Amino acid sequence: MSRRVLITAGANGIGLVMARAFAALGDRVRVCDVDAAALAALPEGIAGTSCDAASAPAMDALFEAIAAEWGGLDIAIANAGIKGPTAGIADMPLEGWRECLGVNLDGAMLLARGAARLMIPQGQGVITFISSTSGLYGTPFRAPYVAAKWGVIGLMKTVAMELGPHGIRANAICPGSVNGPRIDRVIEAEAAAKGVTPEAIRTGYAAGTALKRLSDPQDVADMAVFLASGGARMISGQALAVDGMTYNVDP
Ligand SMILES: NC(=O)c1ccc[n+]([C@@H]2O[C@H](COP(=O)([O-])OP(=O)(O)OC[C@H]3O[C@@H](n4cnc5c(N)ncnc54)[C@H](O)[C@@H]3O)[C@@H](O)[C@H]2O)c1
Repeated sequence: MSRRVLITAGANGIGLVMARAFAALGDRVRVCDVDAAALAALPEGIAGTSCDAASAPAMDALFEAIAAEWGGLDIAIANAGIKGPTAGIADMPLEGWRECLGVNLDGAMLLARGAARLMIPQGQGVITFISSTSGLYGTPFRAPYVAAKWGVIGLMKTVAMELGPHGIRANAICPGSVNGPRIDRVIEAEAAAKGVTPEAIRTGYAAGTALKRLSDPQDVADMAVFLASGGARMISGQALAVDGMTYNVDP
């Protein structure tokens, strides 16, 4: 059966790879994003809506449109996230802190709120949050991102408890460092903050995992597909790392 899938921030990066994975299974997929050019270039089979995931009016309008078009929603993925400022706590700008929490944490709540309103009457649904290994450990110079991603896991656990009796499962995926332009930006910022080369940071990230390499977006997409499948029918309330087993976050 063709499932109805919504992914926030799905016009690029991990979100787009997840969207492609669900579309390849024959699901109906809609992404929202703020990148107009990327929305215009979405591949066939993936619908796009221009929408800031951190804006309550925009997200509510998105869910109203989905209710009108699809009459419900089966799979909702809270993927929107920005890296936030890279700065020591003594120098942390409040504006950048708030912006980071706005997209990563307000965005996750707004996705879950809209999804719950559609899924509770159905008595079924899957909500998956994209947290991070930064939601499992501390990460020096990334306090806003870490706080937001720990917050996402607390939100997920509560959503899972509230909505489980309605047949709705909620989990969080915690990717480690994922190959792509975003991690390049993160590495460059951390290298500048620490006064070392980007290559030293990248090598350290891989060395700090058991599998000695960074993840690919497809690794995250495969977990998202599994969590939405019948094989995951008894999995809820879990924060699942897809990271090659991080064991040293500040090598
Ligand atoms: N890339 C990594 O190494 C990594 C690691 C762990 C967790 N994550 C998480 O995975 C998720 C996706 O990361 P990514 O690497 O694909 O990100 P990315 O930086 O490549 O951005 C993906 C998309 O987010 C969109 N976006 C940004 N702000 C938005 C907003 N307010 N509303 C709607 N769309 C918005 C961008 O336009 C872009 O299309 C994020 O939550 C991120 O925190 C990423």
